[in-house]
Amino acid sequence: MTATVSPRVTAPAIAQHKGSGTPLVMVTAYDAPTARCADAGGVDMILVGDSVAMVVLGYDDTLHVTIDDMAHHTGAVARTNPAALVVADLPWMSYHLGREETVANAARLVRAGATAVKLEGGRKRVDAVNAILDAEIPVMGHLGLTPQSVHRFGGFRVQGKTLDAAREIVDDAVALADAGVFAIVLECVPDAVARMVTDSVAVPTIGIGAGRHCDGQVLVYHDIVGFEDRVRPKFVRRYADLAGDAARAVERFADDVRAGRFPASGETYHAADNVTEALGLYGSVEHAPA
Ligand code: KIV
Repeated sequence: MTATVSPRVTAPAIAQHKGSGTPLVMVTAYDAPTARCADAGGVDMILVGDSVAMVVLGYDDTLHVTIDDMAHHTGAVARTNPAALVVADLPWMSYHLGREETVANAARLVRAGATAVKLEGGRKRVDAVNAILDAEIPVMGHLGLTPQSVHRFGGFRVQGKTLDAAREIVDDAVALADAGVFAIVLECVPDAVARMVTDSVAVPTIGIGAGRHCDGQVLVYHDIVGFEDRVRPKFVRRYADLAGDAARAVERFADDVRAGRFPASGETYHAADNVTEALGLYGSVEHAPA
């Protein structure tokens, strides 16, 4: 399988992909194995999402990850050298305290291996977007259910359900696009709102829980492969049951150990005969093959 805009996907290539007719594909990854799988699957973009907090690190929301955490995970993904564009999330409070700190944090993610960064919010984040773009770092926007606003929203709730709320999201998207973001994630909004946004901006919209009227789709890796099986939002389509497969594999290993079937001779290092003889173990352990 090949990415639609690879090899070596760039942020400008993603921006120019709008209107090409083939939806863009983005998947999250947080470490080398998940990044290798995502890239082998032919995605256009890998997002080192701050969802790492919930999916990998066991937190209840994304507010607990720091720029150090994100740089750590971004480095692991980037070291696999994927053809896909590596986008890293700026975590909560890493772009809220002023221009200098925002740019320094975005630069940390680039030095860790990201080619672009993503931040949440619309018009009130345009200064942050401008500051990062001034430092020559491509920025992806994120509107709708922005998980870093979970407490303001009163939970992980679909956004843009009223006419006013829908218009706010469209205005935010236009402001981000005017500022120069190369793409905008739309999370958990009604499909009509996603359509309005997609038709209103010249950069691609990447939906998650936003229906089909987007220029691309993103899902969390652990949801796609069935590693995250505790919650399943309506918009998740699961393509494998890796959590079940993994549990069954570990169960078989435990059974083999307890029944004395593991390790077998072929899974064991054997000493040479003269060594086992000198150890006084000749005949009571297996021999090395001649
Ligand atoms: O962190 C993340 O996984 C995200 C996606 C939901 C878009 O931001």
